[in-house]
Amino acid sequence: MDTAPPVMETIKRRFSCRTYIDKPIQDKERTLLDVFISENKTGPFNTTPRFQLIAAKTEDHDALKGLGTYGFIKDASGFIIGSTVRDFDYNLEDYGYVMERIILFATSIGLGTCWLGGSFNKSTFSQKILTKQDEFVPAVAAIGNIASKRRFCDKVIRWSAKATKRKQWNKLYFQETFDGILLPETIDSFSGPLEMVRLAPSASNRQPWRIIKEKDQNIFLFFLQRTKNYYERNKKMFKMADLQRVDMGIAMCHFELTCNELGIKGKWVVEEPEIKNLPALTKYLVTWVETIE
Ligand SMILES: Cc1cc2nc3c(=O)[nH]c(=O)nc-3n(C[C@H](O)[C@H](O)[C@H](O)COP(=O)(O)O)c2cc1C
Repeated sequence: MDTAPPVMETIKRRFSCRTYIDKPIQDKERTLLDVFISENKTGPFNTTPRFQLIAAKTEDHDALKGLGTYGFIKDASGFIIGSTVRDFDYNLEDYGYVMERIILFATSIGLGTCWLGGSFNKSTFSQKILTKQDEFVPAVAAIGNIASKRRFCDKVIRWSAKATKRKQWNKLYFQETFDGILLPETIDSFSGPLEMVRLAPSASNRQPWRIIKEKDQNIFLFFLQRTKNYYERNKKMFKMADLQRVDMGIAMCHFELTCNELGIKGKWVVEEPEIKNLPALTKYLVTWVETIE
């Protein structure tokens, strides 16, 4: 879209919207979303999750019947539902990347969204997108017109997730090793992409992304620092997917889209680095390397 607001502005504007106006998404916006979804299918690891917008065309919400969100969401006019193949390398990272692109697009045309990795009825959502035997729905997103006032329960959820809070730069970003300090003022235009990662949504706002910049080179190593027992507990109790891997895909999306907007070219590679003193529960995922043409 020629008139799309800049990505950084869109990322700053996005928030998890849990209270909507009970009004259908307009035809024009629905078409824009359908086209965007059909044109942006593949993630950086080359898997292709399937996504579909399920939206009510009238206030009677027939299309949304049974799509339970356990009271977390009020009056969403639709959902973006996706599915991906089970037990496949990088399936969840790509899922996070592709869904976040859709979410940022929806934000750029003025709609509200909220990622849902736990608060959705897995079987009814799976039925809606007709998951095949080897597929599953790791998370969905509510979508609709943003209500001007939040419900009390919405405020409580935001407060308990400390939704407006983000970890400090020095807890997330490092130079050369996890002991090296990375100062934003020393890395030219890359402070933008890193700041946009910091603003990304993440499951329970755990912000599991850690990034090391190599010395004197624009090479950024992405690590997942897991929250202890988060996946194991949520899988056992609520059959949740490994959402912190989804978070990593979201972070990659914010980083790459911001680089693109700033005209910085680069590519993703997977080359396990030799980093000494890895913190506990921390695992390498991927590297972004600047390419100079
Ligand atoms: C993968 C993922 C799953 C999430 N699952 C839920 C959920 O089940 N219910 C919910 O209310 N919020 C959910 N969220 C939203 C987060 O709580 C939210 O992103 C975080 O608190 C930061 O707030 P913000 O998005 O407003 O910046 C999820 C976010 C992500 C990225």
